[in-house]
Amino acid sequence: MANKNWILMVTAQTPTNIAVIKYWGKRDETLILPINDSISVTLDPEHLCTTTTVAVSPSFESDKMWLNGKEISLSGGRYQSCLREIRRRANDVEDEEKGISIKKQDWDNLKVHIASFNNFPTAAGLASSAAGFACLVYSLAKLMNVKEEQGKLSAIARQGSGSACRSLFGGFVKWIMGKEANGSDSMAVQLATETHWDDLVIIIAVVSSRQKETSSTSGMRESVETSPLLHYRSKEVVPKRILQMEEAIKTRDFPSFAKLTCTDSNQFHAVCLDTSPPIFYMNDTSHRIISYMEKWNRSQGTPQVAYTFDAGPNAVLIAPNRKVATLLLQRLLFYFPPSADTDLSSFVIGDKSLLKDAG
Ligand code: ADP
Ligand code: DP6
Ligand code: CO
Repeated sequence: MANKNWILMVTAQTPTNIAVIKYWGKRDETLILPINDSISVTLDPEHLCTTTTVAVSPSFESDKMWLNGKEISLSGGRYQSCLREIRRRANDVEDEEKGISIKKQDWDNLKVHIASFNNFPTAAGLASSAAGFACLVYSLAKLMNVKEEQGKLSAIARQGSGSACRSLFGGFVKWIMGKEANGSDSMAVQLATETHWDDLVIIIAVVSSRQKETSSTSGMRESVETSPLLHYRSKEVVPKRILQMEEAIKTRDFPSFAKLTCTDSNQFHAVCLDTSPPIFYMNDTSHRIISYMEKWNRSQGTPQVAYTFDAGPNAVLIAPNRKVATLLLQRLLFYFPPSADTDLSSFVIGDKSLLKDAG
């Protein structure tokens, strides 16, 4: 490797995921081990995804990263964990065309440059940390010829951001909390592929793309420390709900799916209110959207639309098919026209191709 004039690059794209049974609370902050299982749906990568390019060259003097065009520090434990775990599993890489030959042991000394872009708001409650860290781990693993299966990679992405482990699979995904103290069994598994329930349509109402005041990481830390409701939720409520949700997904039972999704989102936000001092992720527009959906569902006697809100004010609405989705969009445009008054800026619509495979 006397020649220092080469550079090897890999680009990957990873979609975000939205939890329908939420992860909120860690039992281990460093390894990122959760206090309950969670289930999510992976979104259409065209609309909400991260694109990350990782490059290696002997001329690079240190690991560096740019997020949405701005240099960020990699000194945080999460980035270091991901880099360390991937480097540890690196293999030989040969690129005959470029005359590059990297040996397994070279990776310890080679530095990487990482450039990542989110095509949706960062740190606004649309799971940028999920798409971001999944993409980081996936692209580094490709660059360094890591041969681990997807589940093992998910356990590494988990150490970047918990929700990221679920973005390495398409379709419906469960993050199994695991029992081991070292986190070896805390990883994501695919419950159903992206084609299993492809009638579903997701519409995201971007209520605000501003960065939230309380990051998910600090919000859930405060909830673990102060909310009695969270402990009740993780022990008594979520385990049963996970089984019911798995069944609803398996049988494509939309009314049950919708009921569980809405109830779980509401309990998560109740936990935020039960935290001291309380955390407000939703705003007036979010609350008005909930009231409207509840009224609509009640008027029909059976759920027409599911809603869920992550740690931010943006609404994720799930319709059972295109017909209801069209109606939903018409109603949203009528009752919630994007305007400065409501903060509502746009709607992002996922097609039936919305449940795509990651990577
Ligand atoms: P969100 O609701 O968007 O997931 P979080 O508070 O969970 O918000 O996480 C936001 C943080 O995730 C950002 O401040 C940044 O540190 C990290 N992040 C976001 N996007 C990326 C990315 N593409 N690559 C690496 N890290 C990212
Ligand atoms: C409300 O995965 O962003 O979106 O693990 O600290 O990075 P860290 O937190 P993060 O939390 C996500 C919380 C949530 C629910 C969910 O995605 O399950
Ligand atoms: Co996040």
